[in-house]
Amino acid sequence: MTNYFISMDKIINSERIIKVVRCDESCAEGAAALCAVCFNRDESAAHMASFLSNKQTAAICAKDGDTVVGYAAASVIADEAEIMDVAVSENYRRRGIGRELMSSLEALCGEMGASQIYLEVRSQNSAARALYESLGYVAYGTRHGYYKNPADDAVLMKKNLSSDTALADNSSSC
Ligand SMILES: CC(C)(COP(=O)(O)OP(=O)(O)OC[C@H]1O[C@@H](n2cnc3c(N)ncnc32)[C@H](O)[C@@H]1OP(=O)(O)O)[C@@H](O)C(=O)NCCC(=O)NCCS
Repeated sequence: MTNYFISMDKIINSERIIKVVRCDESCAEGAAALCAVCFNRDESAAHMASFLSNKQTAAICAKDGDTVVGYAAASVIADEAEIMDVAVSENYRRRGIGRELMSSLEALCGEMGASQIYLEVRSQNSAARALYESLGYVAYGTRHGYYKNPADDAVLMKKNLSSDTALADNSSSC
């Protein structure tokens, strides 16, 4: 897959370049650490490496040098993708990285055969909901009381991947 690059000039006032690339196992430690902070969960690098090596995993990270500052991942099964995680390091937020991660992830899911992409998000997570809505995701249901600590409903969202991100010809996989 093509590596995507964001000019850091667009993101923060510096000469730095943020690389947005497909994750490999070398990203596991940084991605696990980012998820541990953003989602307050015990995420081991070994578990992340195993997830990243799965053929059904689509994962993108944003790097400032060697530091993982953003991560987005999905599982792709047949023509459906399910987004698992989207996270941007706190000091790097509101600079377009989340949007770039999502766009790159959608492109990768499309290359892997997905034509529909699904996710669930806390109803109180206004930042993530605004990001997804700005990218064309639409709510199609609610799972009441789905989340704990703190308790919250899950909003179910989905998006049809456009023809330029979905595989043009899926028939060879049948
Ligand atoms: C949600 C998250 C990934 C967004 O990342 P980001 O890099 O800050 O997002 P972007 O800068 O690309 O923002 C893109 C758009 O999303 C929306 N958005 C992002 N953060 C927002 C906020 N705090 N409030 C309102 N809208 C927000 C805006 O529409 C924004 O476009 P704009 O800046 O032109 O107004 C980030 O806040 C994060 O990591 N949160 C913690 C983890 C999390 O909740 N993940 C989602 C789990 S479902």
